[in-house]
Amino acid sequence: MDYCQKIHAMNAALDHTPLAMVDTYGCQQNEADSERLRGYLSQMGYGFTDDEHQADLVLVNTCAIREHAEQRVLGNVGALVHTKRKNPNQIICLCGCMAQEPHVAKKVKESYHQVDLLFGPHALWRFPELLWRFKAAGKRVFEFADDPGSIAEGIPVVRQGSVKAWVSIMYGCNNFCSYCIVPYVRGRERSRKPEVILEEIAGLAAEGYKDITLLGQNVNSWGKDLDCGMDFADLLKAAADIPGEFLLRFMTSHPKDASQKLFDTMASSEKIAPCFHLPFQAGSDRVLKAMNRVYGRAGYLDKVRRLRAAIPDVVITSDVIVGFPGETAEEFEETMTLIDEVGFDALFTFIYSPRVGTPAASMEDPVSREEKLAWFQRLVARQDEISEAKHRAYIGKTVRCLVDGKDEKGLTARTGGNRLVRLTNGAEDLIGRFADIRITGANKWSLSGEAV
Ligand code: SAH
Ligand code: SF4
Ligand code: F3S
Repeated sequence: MDYCQKIHAMNAALDHTPLAMVDTYGCQQNEADSERLRGYLSQMGYGFTDDEHQADLVLVNTCAIREHAEQRVLGNVGALVHTKRKNPNQIICLCGCMAQEPHVAKKVKESYHQVDLLFGPHALWRFPELLWRFKAAGKRVFEFADDPGSIAEGIPVVRQGSVKAWVSIMYGCNNFCSYCIVPYVRGRERSRKPEVILEEIAGLAAEGYKDITLLGQNVNSWGKDLDCGMDFADLLKAAADIPGEFLLRFMTSHPKDASQKLFDTMASSEKIAPCFHLPFQAGSDRVLKAMNRVYGRAGYLDKVRRLRAAIPDVVITSDVIVGFPGETAEEFEETMTLIDEVGFDALFTFIYSPRVGTPAASMEDPVSREEKLAWFQRLVARQDEISEAKHRAYIGKTVRCLVDGKDEKGLTARTGGNRLVRLTNGAEDLIGRFADIRITGANKWSLSGEAV
């Protein structure tokens, strides 16, 4: 905070309020991190803009999960050469998961000279100090902390919305799925203490937030490193006991740790949204084993069965990877049959992307890109049919939804299960309120209906 004040004093001496642009890629964890980076920037006296030409400082918060995500970031950072040429005082910072990859940091240092400051997730809490160092010496700062250290609490936050909020409950991942970069760039699991989490949720409820999502790469492992006598289900229960009208969500859950106790806890409270994101990744036992997922197809299906037994109207969504190294056509068919057996409400589908340093990147991968793409398209087409049928089943029902915003097509709302509903009526004063909505239409992406 001392560094924030020093930078604030420098900024106060300028003839204008300096503006910062925060450009965020990747998952909700990165969104939540960007809210803390904005918190710091605000303390330093920056205002905000979405226009890189107007920005005095551009902060790119990156994602390393797939090649495509990295290419997009590098393309956009490359283009910042032009804005910086017009505005040589512009400061360009690159942070997030890509910055924690040594080969990326090296490439940026050598080939992207417009980048002044680079730091990974481990050093996020030190952003003001690093920025001060750059401003004081005028030399590029590359921070390669490879130890996440303990969790820094008390970082200021500027949230993006007033209805929905993210609360990180833990950082890192211990699972080392063989395809995944996250454990390498985010470090081992570290849980925030229950009292700080519950205090943050109580504060959000008091401020009027209505949709609060607890975040972690594997929330079901929360607390294992704390020795606090609570597990994730206990934390969720304690959060649901906080007074106020709000819904609690959480993500992501690894199937190996999704427990009966958690399902029963969800069933016991109306404040815990009836939705569950439970990535399955592959339908074949051999592929799941090669992925180091530690559960098999039957075990996964059993979890889904028990989840539905506890919460009959639960909305289940999932992630799947197509074309993991060595996946055969027969094994891919097992993914196709699994999605039919489960009937997910929505599915996030990814083509396997090799990540430097992960075990899967050195496995043999004989299937061609074209064949993987053909599998991918079949999977998406089948899931679209399933999603549309699931959505059509809502027509004629009246569903309690949270009206959460507005876009060019009108008001938007979310069901408890987080399905998007487009409203055909209603005024803006509904935003931030729960409303009963009669569903009148549906397609594969969303529902439509009228507030009654
Ligand atoms: N912690 C979460 C997932 C985070 S990453 C979990 O375990 O469920 C989000 C999704 O990206 C993963 O579920 C996986 O489906 C996908 N993914 C991760 N690494 C990938 C890779 N190398 N190639 C393609 N998809 C990948
Ligand atoms: Fe990656 Fe697996 Fe950890 Fe999820 S659980 S972040 S897929 S290593
Ligand atoms: Fe991407 Fe990092 Fe999230 S790699 S998916 S931003 S944890």
